[in-house]
Amino acid sequence: MRIITAKTKARDYPIYISQQFSEHFPLLIRKNFKDSEKIILVTNDKVFGIYESNIKNTLDKCSLPHEIVVIRDGEENKNLQKAEYIFGKLVDFNVHRNDIITAFGGGVIGDLAGFVASTYQRGIRLIHCPTTIVGQVDSSIGGKVAVNYSGIKNIVGNFYQPHMIFIDPTFNHTLEEKQIINGLGEVVKYGIIFKKKILDKLSQSIEDKKEDRLFEMVRSDIFREIIYMCCSIKAMVAQKDEFDISYRNLLNFGHTIGHCIESALEFKGLSHGEAVSAGMIVAIDISVSLGLCKKEVKEWILGIYKKLKLPYRIPEIDIDKIVCALKYDKKFKTMQNKFVLIKGINKPVFIYDVDRGVIIDNIKKSMYNYI
Ligand code: NAD
Ligand code: GLY
Repeated sequence: MRIITAKTKARDYPIYISQQFSEHFPLLIRKNFKDSEKIILVTNDKVFGIYESNIKNTLDKCSLPHEIVVIRDGEENKNLQKAEYIFGKLVDFNVHRNDIITAFGGGVIGDLAGFVASTYQRGIRLIHCPTTIVGQVDSSIGGKVAVNYSGIKNIVGNFYQPHMIFIDPTFNHTLEEKQIINGLGEVVKYGIIFKKKILDKLSQSIEDKKEDRLFEMVRSDIFREIIYMCCSIKAMVAQKDEFDISYRNLLNFGHTIGHCIESALEFKGLSHGEAVSAGMIVAIDISVSLGLCKKEVKEWILGIYKKLKLPYRIPEIDIDKIVCALKYDKKFKTMQNKFVLIKGINKPVFIYDVDRGVIIDNIKKSMYNYI
C-alpha cells in the first residue's frame, strides 16, 4: 500500500493506493476512525451491480453498523433532489458528525456524496473510494464537491476536503473503453502540464497494434505508477491553491475549449475527457500560432493521442455555438478568456489576451483539419 498525504488548510488527509480494498479498507477504518459509530456508503446502481459482494464483505469487516444508499447512475442524478434523498437516509439512520459517509463510485457519486457530507450537520466525515480513472486521478482529491442545478454544472457546491481517500486501481479493470479514454484525457493533461514522465510511461505501457490495448494498459504496473504520480500532482496543486484562486487554474488546460465543445454538443456524444482532449490540441495549436511553442511538440503529443485513442479533432458542429460558449467559461475575465497555453512540455503559461481570430482559426483548423 502506498500513501500520499494531502495537506490543506482544512485538514491533512491520507490518500491510500492499494489493490486490496477488501483487506485494507476495514483495517484503516478500525485504526483511523475509532470514534465513528456508523458508515453510510453511497454508490450507484451500475457500480453496485458490479461490486455488491465486494462492498458488503468489506463493510462487514469494518466492525461498524453500516447502510448502503444506491443512487441511479448518471450525471443527471448529481442534483439537489438526490442530495435531499441522501439527507433523508442520514436522518433515518440517525447519523452523527463523527460518522462516515463513503462515496464509492466515479466523480458523480464523489461530488454528490461529498456535497451531502459537507452540508449535513455542517460537515461530517467523508471518505472517497473512487472507482473510475477520473475519480482516482482528479475528482476525489482537492475538496471540490458540488451538484448541478438549473441545467448548470457544479453550480451549487463547496470546498470540503475528505478525511481519507482509498484508491484501488483494480476497480478500473471493469471500466468500459469509453470511460478509460475519458480518464486518460485528464492523465495526459497532467503529463503535458506537470510531468513529462507520465507521457513517457503511457507510451511505454501501450502496445500499439492490439485492439484491446487500453484494457491491458489499465491492468499494468506502469499504469498503477501513473495513477500514483497523478494523485501526487493533484494533491500538490490543491495544497498550493486550495480555493482555486490562481495556480490551480493550470488544471483547466484544454478545458476552456473542452467545455465549449461539451456545451455545443449539449453534453451528448463526447465524454468530458474526450472533449478536453480535443480542447488541449486546440490550446497547443493556439500556443504554436502565437509563437509560444514549437510545432514538433504538437506532433509528438499527437503520436501519444493516437496510441491512447484520444480524440484530437473537434467534431463538425456549429462553430458559433462553440465560440458563444466561451463567454460562459468560469475563467472568463474582463471580456477575455484566460487560457492556459504551453511554451513546451511542462511549461504552462496563463495568457489573458488571446485574439478572438486566433481562437476561431484554430477551432476551424481542428474541425476541418486544415493547416
Ligand atoms: P461517472 O461518475 O459518471 O462514471 C462514469 C461511468 O462509469 C458511470 O456510468 C459509472 O456508473 C461507471 N463506473 C464507475 N465506476 C465503475 C467501475 N469501476 N466499473 C465500471 N463502471 C464504472 O463519471 P466520472 O468520469 O468518474 O466523473 C465525472 C464527474 O466528476 C462529473 O460530474 C464531473 O463534474 C465530476 N468531476 C469533479 C471533479 C472535482 O474536482 N470534484 C473533477 C473532475 C470531474
Ligand atoms: N478538477 C479541477 C480542480 O480540482 O480544480
